[in-house]
Order: sequence, then C-alpha cells, then structure tokens
Amino acid sequence: MRTLAVVGGGVIGSAVAWSAAAAGWEVTIFDPAPGSGASWVAGGMLAPLSEGWPGEQAPLEFGAASLERWPEFGARLAAVTGVPVFVADETLTVALDAADAADLRTIADFVGSYGHRLELLDRAGVRAAEPGLARTARAGLLAPTEPAVDNRILVDALRQGCEQSGVHMRVEAVDNLADLEFDRIVLATGAAAARLWPGLAVHPLKGEILRLRHRPGAPPPPHRVIRARVHGRPIYLVPRADGIVVGATQYEAGFDTAVTVAGVRDLIADAEAVLPALGEYELTEASAGSRPATPDNLPLIGRLSERVVVAAGHGRNGILGVPLTVDAVLALLADDVLPEAKAADPQRFSAQTSPLVSGAAFFTGAAPSAGGNR
Ligand code: GLY
Repeated sequence: MRTLAVVGGGVIGSAVAWSAAAAGWEVTIFDPAPGSGASWVAGGMLAPLSEGWPGEQAPLEFGAASLERWPEFGARLAAVTGVPVFVADETLTVALDAADAADLRTIADFVGSYGHRLELLDRAGVRAAEPGLARTARAGLLAPTEPAVDNRILVDALRQGCEQSGVHMRVEAVDNLADLEFDRIVLATGAAAARLWPGLAVHPLKGEILRLRHRPGAPPPPHRVIRARVHGRPIYLVPRADGIVVGATQYEAGFDTAVTVAGVRDLIADAEAVLPALGEYELTEASAGSRPATPDNLPLIGRLSERVVVAAGHGRNGILGVPLTVDAVLALLADDVLPEAKAADPQRFSAQTSPLVSGAAFFTGAAPSAGGNR
C-alpha cells in the first residue's frame, strides 16, 4: 500500500486524508493541535455567488464548482456521524443604503452572466423573508443554493471519518518535509504553509468572530445566512443550532490570534445594525484565526515536487473549498489534473516567487528546509 503524509489536520488536511484512505492510501496526519486553527474559528458560509464581483471570474468558478459538490460531500459525512453538517439552506445579502443596493444588482448581473441564479428582493421581500432584520434593510439578494455548515461539527465529523478509515494521527509538528519518509506528502498547513515551503504565495490574514447563544425569550436567529456591509465593513450572521456566529474582522496582522477590544466592539455594533435583537443574546466566545490568504483569492492546489502536493491558501473560503480540493488532490495523487481546479495551480506565481517553487526546480522532489508547521 502506498503511504501518504498529510501535514496539517484542519478541514482541508483531514478531508484529504479521509478521502485518500478510502482511495487505498495508507495515510498519516501530522498536526500538533488538529482542527484548532482557522477551521475552528470559521463561520461556515458557502457563498461564492453572493461574494461574486466583476473581474473575479476564477474565484467564482472555483467556489461554484466546490459548492456543487457540497450536498454529496455533506451527505457522506452525515453518514459517518449521523449528524447533519448543514445549519442553513440559503444566504441573504441585505443592503442598508442605496450604494449597497446598487452593488447587489451588480453581483446579480455578474453571476447571472455565468448562469447562476440569484433573486433580488425589495424592502417588503426582505421583511417577508427575515422579519427580524433591521427596518433599514432596503433591498436584498437571495441565494437559494448557498447553505452554511457548522464548522465544528465538520471538524468532528472529519476526525471520526479519519478514525473509521484507519488514518493515523501524529500529534506533532513537522519541521522539514524532507524528514517524512512517505511516498507522497500533502502540505495542508493553511496560513503557515510557507514555513515548510518558502516562497509559497500564502500569508496570514487575521479574522475575529463572535459566538452568540440564543436566550429564552429572545427573538430566534435568522433562518438564513445574513450578510451585509455596515460603515464599509462586511458583516455576516451564520445560524447555529443554539445561536449565531458573527464574523468577521479582517486585518493584516501576521500570526496574531489575540482578540482585540476594537474587533469585538465593531462586530457587535455592526451585527446589531443588521439584527437589532442580538443584544438579547449571550456572548459566549470571541476568537480569532489566521486565514491563509493568497494574492488572487484562489487557493494553491498543485504539485510542488514529485513527492509533494500543496493544498493551502483557501483564504476566506476554506470550508467552501473542501470538496473540490479533495477531488483535485486525489487527482494529483493519481498523476492527473482536475480541470475545475487548474486555476489554483501554484505555478501561476512561480515567476514572482522563490526559485525553489519555480521553473526547473519545481519537480526536483527536494523540499526546501524550513521551520515548524504551526
Ligand atoms: N469565511 C469568512 C471569513 O473568513 O470571514
């Protein structure tokens, strides 16, 4: 049996490990704290259409191809645990001013030109759909095919799936990929991937979120994912079985996962501007994570050498990207390329980045040495 090391035990790494084991690989995950990074902090929105914008065709197509795979992937996971991963079926983006309303029309036209249907709602339509939203919501964009998943149920389901499939878990950091005596290696350490492969075009983009618990007597959470912009800042409310996840701030702050007073203040103020009843909820958690950002909002999925495949750089959309990434990595492990993931090939940056990942050195099989994987 051929051996595979998956370095990084977040949702990308563990989903790859689970599926590779089912495909006949002997798989070992390496992670000093599995499932504790960006995967644990995420909102779980699957919203590539609502996030569409003219000029960003490639992220739209990548995200839409992964979204299409989510129903089957989610059903396979639920078969493992008996617990559904989905927590909402639809996404509603609301406009609080005229400029935002114009942007909703721009998004609808753009994604419509790629064959994706979004529904524009007027003020009355927004109120009928989600009566708890602020009366200032003057227009909406409904995405009937964009659900959300509970990221922590997902982390747990993937852990169970890996256990049931015989995936080995080594709770330890990897300092150098060259030390791993496996036939193939998948590098899935998210924002930290460049520590093990210097020159990879991925860096941390800090995000803070809040978790709010519904209290008896408070108005219920919305049925859908609610997205909006308040004072130019994006805000989203993602339902959970017991409340709502509110996200997210966005800063260039390196590997800093401290929660700031200003971050919490802005999230609460912006969320209340969209859903006034939120003040009646219990604030149970404020946390921060490092999104693995790339310069063009597409992930890095491709071969770095004969032995090493990277699956990192999913930015704000790591959970969305899981099923397509799994299919793309399994194709690469079979020496094939999945057409829908071609745009994510890390070679697109090879001219601008380290010679270690470019040109002739690309397929040498030698991993550059680097620090730990967290
Ligand atoms: N997944 C949404 C965010 O990173 O803010």
